[in-house]
Amino acid sequence: MAFDPLQERGIPLDEQLRNWRELNVTPIDPDAADPYTRCRIITMNGIEVEAVMFSHHAARHCSDPDVKRRLAQVRYIESQQQKAVNWLLPGSSSVLETTIAYEQVAVDLTAWVARMEPDPYLKQAYQFGVLEDFDHLYRYANLYEMIEHRKADKIVDRLTEVMPGRPTYLHHRDPVDNVRRPYERSRTEPLSRLHALTITAAEQQTMNFYMNVGPLHMEPIARQLYQEIGMVEEEHVTHYESLVDPGESWWEMLLNHEFNECYLYHSFMETETDPRVRAIWELHLGMELEHLRLAGELFKRFDGRDPEQVLAPALPPPVTFESNKGYIRDLLTTQVDVTTLGTGYVREAHERFTRMQQAVMGGEEPPSERVIEDNRAISGREYRLETEGPHPVGVRLTP
Ligand SMILES: [Fe+2]
Ligand SMILES: [Fe+2]
Ligand SMILES: [Fe+2]
Ligand SMILES: [Fe+2]
Repeated sequence: MAFDPLQERGIPLDEQLRNWRELNVTPIDPDAADPYTRCRIITMNGIEVEAVMFSHHAARHCSDPDVKRRLAQVRYIESQQQKAVNWLLPGSSSVLETTIAYEQVAVDLTAWVARMEPDPYLKQAYQFGVLEDFDHLYRYANLYEMIEHRKADKIVDRLTEVMPGRPTYLHHRDPVDNVRRPYERSRTEPLSRLHALTITAAEQQTMNFYMNVGPLHMEPIARQLYQEIGMVEEEHVTHYESLVDPGESWWEMLLNHEFNECYLYHSFMETETDPRVRAIWELHLGMELEHLRLAGELFKRFDGRDPEQVLAPALPPPVTFESNKGYIRDLLTTQVDVTTLGTGYVREAHERFTRMQQAVMGGEEPPSERVIEDNRAISGREYRLETEGPHPVGVRLTP
């Protein structure tokens, strides 16, 4: 049955506050948990961080003290939600293990969104990006084997393959070529807005994660690899955020954020395999329904329109974490050698791209290539997890 968040009753705001005991969730067991439960946790952390940061930015642009107070009230709850969600991750996982899980999220969430996206230009943007995070997974998996002496299949559990994508060194484009063309808010499908918000939030948290945890490593190759991939995540945020129509008012953006939170919690409630985690998704959905109602009030007051005019009449089919091996392999055969030029895509290494490459490489091999060679030297071969046969475009060469 179609679920329309605008018609559902949520938890009143003054009943949403939790005490320290309620916030102190028991983490998942990293050895027994479904890898896609961990992926849902990481996704929702990204979404809640986005909710908090978006609200802070809105508050900084808001001169009405009453509205500022309202934003602060809801934001405090978003911030508690973020704590409850992210604290489901176990402290026993290493930073690098969590990193591999982040890239698994980027692969299987972006692939799902690419598959479901109705607008061909937006679909292309997701297909382009997913081949890069797919390659990051492979680079980090080799680092993991080399410095922690463990294999990434312990984390991704054969649900996601680990092998070269578009090689990471080719991700370093001139920043102007990362800016996409936005969708038009008056014409776009409501689902397209939700997709752009979700993937921007996911990439933003990945970027923030690497910029913070990269220097916590001791090994020089690890520190360097986090710098290199961290810079690519900056490019990814630029790429995805530029898909959103900047003509949306703050209130329309707030409304989209709250609707998207309802959509994702509802999606994960429907697909979650761990009953304890599912209960958290359900509780948070109840909270988001009320956030959405309050955002709708602000939207009516300041935008002069009804939420029904911009939101989907009901939730689209649930966002689902599942294997996308065949889809990724198809993209590898058709799009591995693509880069961007302006807001479009090309196959040849154009002048601006080549100039950028030379400038950042400084005549040396980048960390993302060295990590593979180093692991080959130590482990006798590089690490791959090819569950569906050999790599579809053969062995990738180093530059
Ligand atoms: Fe939230
Ligand atoms: Fe990535
Ligand atoms: Fe990324
Ligand atoms: Fe919210």
